[in-house]
Amino acid sequence: MDRSTALKAVLAVGLLALPSAAWAQEPVKIGLILPMTGQQASTGKQIKAAVDLYMKEHGDAVAGRKIEVILKDDAAVPDNTKRLAQELIVNDKVNVIAGFGVTPAALAAAPLATEGKVVELVMAAGTSIITERSPYIARTSFTLAQSTVPMADWAVKSGIKKVVTMVSDYAPGHDAEKSFIERFKQAGGEVLEAIRFPLANPDFAPFLQRAADAKPDAIMVFVPSGQGGTFMKQYAERGLDKAGIKVIGPGDVTDDDLLPAMGDAVLGAVTAHFYSADHPSAKNFMSVGGYDGMHLIYETLKKTGGKADGDSLIAAMKGMAWESPRGPISIDPDTRDIIQNVYMRKVEKKGGELYNVEFATFDAIKDPVKAANK
Ligand code: PHB
Repeated sequence: MDRSTALKAVLAVGLLALPSAAWAQEPVKIGLILPMTGQQASTGKQIKAAVDLYMKEHGDAVAGRKIEVILKDDAAVPDNTKRLAQELIVNDKVNVIAGFGVTPAALAAAPLATEGKVVELVMAAGTSIITERSPYIARTSFTLAQSTVPMADWAVKSGIKKVVTMVSDYAPGHDAEKSFIERFKQAGGEVLEAIRFPLANPDFAPFLQRAADAKPDAIMVFVPSGQGGTFMKQYAERGLDKAGIKVIGPGDVTDDDLLPAMGDAVLGAVTAHFYSADHPSAKNFMSVGGYDGMHLIYETLKKTGGKADGDSLIAAMKGMAWESPRGPISIDPDTRDIIQNVYMRKVEKKGGELYNVEFATFDAIKDPVKAANK
């Protein structure tokens, strides 16, 4: 090879390497869309705190790339989510949109994730259908059916025969109602009534009265985390606890954030959930979906060598498995949804404080809704 050919070869290699070198200099941008104000603000604040904690522990660079988080408050209003996702993708050129405190917000962003070929990482919302709305969606939170199906099995085995379901009238409530009722009836249980109440500022009292009048063994309740305090207060005021009507359901109603202030009427409530402040691990919190979401992004970037386009990231996320503070979890390679343990918990007093105390584990639960549709 003469000198000019050698020089050309060197130049060619250099040019080929240039594009990758160019992206390698850029930060990986994560657009974090959360309800930092409004009715769901407690979810937003907890998830944000978990993202910050992860970065404090693991640094703000991975696979040679700096990680930059751009926080946007959508107040859980889907029109805001859509506008913010659009701006983040088009103007800020983010590699990932993440967060999503409620289902309507996660759904509103889905078409933009598809169009922009950007990963949408759901850290809080829980309706089964979300991950089916875009091939770029993955989830580190949970689905309602993951909790309500084991709940139904447990209820029948524990002698609960007659139930009234009570849910917030929107997608995750409908999921909780449907998946519980199907399983509970299959197992021999009877559903006396299926009650729905509005999502925004609900007054539960008249609905609790209707439930009490039906004289069930238990009410199976779903309210989004943040509303459980009011629900349990009105449950006690209407005397349902004294009438021996148990509270069961997914764990959102006895969210650890609100549980300490709920009072003794909540003692004995049995719920199924993926986390509890009483879980025997050093770190454990409702916002674990945010913590694990960051872990998934960091580990995925290690796997892609820092490549952060949507197709590379989502491909690398499929099948990823790790030990979370909540226990072993993985991303289902077929559905991009989370597979995790679901814990049965009973509200008890420990050292004078109320806790969701775990007493049984259902291992490695896939979203039952998607499993059933296959
Ligand atoms: C949801 O909107 O998906 C959602 C919100 C709060 C919860 C559970 C689900 O506690």
